[in-house]
Amino acid sequence: MAVIEAKAVLLKNLKEVCIRTPVAEDAERVLNYMKKIFEEDRFFLMTAEEAKEWQTLEKEQEHIQKYHTDEDKLIVISETDGRILSLSSIECGSRQRMRHIGQVGISILPDWRGLGLGKAIMEVLIEWARAHPKLEKLALGVWSGNKPAIRLYQKMGFIEEGRKIREVKYADGSYDDMICMYRMVDSK
Ligand SMILES: CC(C)(COP(=O)(O)OP(=O)(O)OC[C@H]1O[C@@H](n2cnc3c(N)ncnc32)[C@H](O)[C@@H]1OP(=O)(O)O)[C@@H](O)C(=O)NCCC(=O)NCCS
Repeated sequence: MAVIEAKAVLLKNLKEVCIRTPVAEDAERVLNYMKKIFEEDRFFLMTAEEAKEWQTLEKEQEHIQKYHTDEDKLIVISETDGRILSLSSIECGSRQRMRHIGQVGISILPDWRGLGLGKAIMEVLIEWARAHPKLEKLALGVWSGNKPAIRLYQKMGFIEEGRKIREVKYADGSYDDMICMYRMVDSK
């Protein structure tokens, strides 16, 4: 069962934030969070329009429940004053030969970026990965124009392992490469 112990973190704006695993009762607030995040519509593969199609309360509750009971899938939220500020996850490969790899995802509300929350969340994810019986490698894909995310990952020990050229095309006709990054779970 992928559940972490709740952790309190003090951010640079002196606000205390709780990092924890969501429960089914958080589903509505998680959905509201995702609506806000997709308003920016440029950091993820799914567009805001596509996201709307699968974002229902029932599906979100199921999703949270699935991650709760599956030891190879972790979702982590952070909150303060009853407001969800971030959503992050690790998912082990579904194929037997890729179970040792955890795909990492992270997002934070715009007003809460640059305050040390990303680093604190990544530390929690890495700690969980270290304790996981099968995980050996963490991996992620990030758009080449997303400098804050690339910096965060580098700070957390992630290294570029490859690049997919023009992997994403935006509505305005411009492209971004996808930088594939990894870190071995046990590296310092
Ligand atoms: C990427 C993201 C998770 C970073 O989280 P964050 O809370 O802002 O990061 P932190 O405040 O913990 O900063 C960690 C490091 O990242 C770097 N960083 C953060 N914001 C930065 C910025 N705007 N420009 C350059 N570097 C930045 C800094 O080096 C910082 O370390 P330092 O404080 O010791 O200098 C956040 O910006 C976000 O949610 N972005 C939108 C969603 C997204 O892009 N997700 C990743 C998709 S692959």
